Amino acid sequence: EKGGYDYFMLKEIVEQPQAVADTLLGRVGVDGTLTLDEMRLAPSELREIEKIVIIACGTSYHAGLIAKYAIEHWCRVPCEVEVASEFRYRDPILNRQTMVIAISQSGESMDTLMAVRYAREQRARVLAICNVNGSTIPRESDGVLYTHAGPEVGVAATKTFLTQLVACYLIGLYLAQVRNTKFGDEVNAVIGQLARMPEQVQEVLGTVGPVRELARSLSGSGTVLFLGRHVGYPVALEGALKLKELAYMHAEAFAAGELKHGPIALIEDGLPVVVVVPSREGRGVLHDKIVSNIQEIRARGARTIVIAEEGDETVRPYADELIGIPSVPTLLQPIIASIPMQVFACELALAKGNDVDRPRNLAKSVTVE
Ligand code: F6R
Repeated sequence: EKGGYDYFMLKEIVEQPQAVADTLLGRVGVDGTLTLDEMRLAPSELREIEKIVIIACGTSYHAGLIAKYAIEHWCRVPCEVEVASEFRYRDPILNRQTMVIAISQSGESMDTLMAVRYAREQRARVLAICNVNGSTIPRESDGVLYTHAGPEVGVAATKTFLTQLVACYLIGLYLAQVRNTKFGDEVNAVIGQLARMPEQVQEVLGTVGPVRELARSLSGSGTVLFLGRHVGYPVALEGALKLKELAYMHAEAFAAGELKHGPIALIEDGLPVVVVVPSREGRGVLHDKIVSNIQEIRARGARTIVIAEEGDETVRPYADELIGIPSVPTLLQPIIASIPMQVFACELALAKGNDVDRPRNLAKSVTVE
């Protein structure tokens, strides 16, 4: 049942092109029209939304952080993202014009479920993004967008994370269409690019071989740091979470611009730092800023592991290891930039002899608060 792999996680990583295709299936028309029927929120209701609040835990929370960048840019609706366990204890401001998006692979995380119940009591409209059909969170929400990634057995979320991102993008693009924002042309272009993501995910899987060797060479490190900007920042957070849960290593992620406000003091000789470089297209300033961040940490001795667009020669002089990914619009880059992170954490964990399907102290679905 592991399809010839030693671990479900390895199989689930490889299944990602299909999982992404299945999330898109039947939802993107050839002419770019989106059909999200199970959302059960009428276009008229969606036009009334004044604020979006995303609630989730763990990896699903990271998907939400990425969604915020896309939704605010495409839809021009303010979007907050909060860890579900913090949400209802701070008396959040919600009303009928608030759309709450609850992201949960299992649909059973108690923290997220409690936040959903609270949001509904406050009369917010609640939309769930879930992978498990008929689970509690979608049943208690107004609408749902299923990720259709298929069962995920490995405790660490991989294919469900990628498909959560796709679901978030679909919602953002659909909202932008319905609300007729001035980004119409960009939205149509991105829909076309999203439809091509399964191929690009496949392409990345074909080139991550060297990441495995790199990961094994780092199994003796005490700490690994992750840096990113813009959507690369939540990708860095996710990379650090994967390393903690699978390899039981100390890992921390920072927004690269925050480095000089403190974390740069951590940099010492040989410290591995993984950096996600944004695409150059449309985000040139960010790209150049992160290149200078890489220069700064390397000058202080860091071993720089750089994930950047294939053919990005500007980073090469400062990258001890360069991991190339296909060129896609920055907002969609997390779908592909996350894959080397997954492989990196999985391989490091295997090098340490850990069971990547059942990491210690963790459960696939956390049904206690
Ligand atoms: C990390 C991981 C967890 C879950 C979190 C939320 O790899 O799997 O952090 O993402 O427990 O679970 P769901 O999405 O089922 O609500």
